[in-house]
Amino acid sequence: MANAPEGGACPPGTVIQLVPAEAMVERRPGWSPATNDWEFFFLRFAADGEVIIEDRGTDDVVNQFGGNCLDCHALAEPRWGFVCEQDHGCDPLPIGEDVIRNFQNADPRCD
Ligand code: HEC
Repeated sequence: MANAPEGGACPPGTVIQLVPAEAMVERRPGWSPATNDWEFFFLRFAADGEVIIEDRGTDDVVNQFGGNCLDCHALAEPRWGFVCEQDHGCDPLPIGEDVIRNFQNADPRCD
């Protein structure tokens, strides 16, 4: 869906992540029309790797940099339903691919 030129919808239960501490979960149709039924999650990891939900919701979830998930993801063109990728209309992240890789490689669940 994210790579299709015509976009599409993700089925309920879809979980997507780019970096370990942030996730989007597709809920049932009609759950949150304002977010295309996505629930945003900000996560933290305990020393033993346990995942702790710091925050979850629709329009008021912020990441560790104080950025509101919805504010950025709402800029994606409607056909991609809040999935940004790099060419769906969202403002680009202020970090490079190398920094994203470092976040991913630091995921304690992948040791
Ligand atoms: C400053 C704007 C901004 C904020 C704030 C932000 N994101 Fe994103 N997010 C983006 C952009 C832009 C991408 C695409 C980056 C790429 O592919 O290089 C992205 C990618 C993602 C992806 C991978 C799927 C996609 O949309 O490309 C997920 C999942 C995600 N973000 C979840 C979150 C969650 C959850 C939060 C809040 C806790 C959040 N983001 C906060 C801009 C933001």
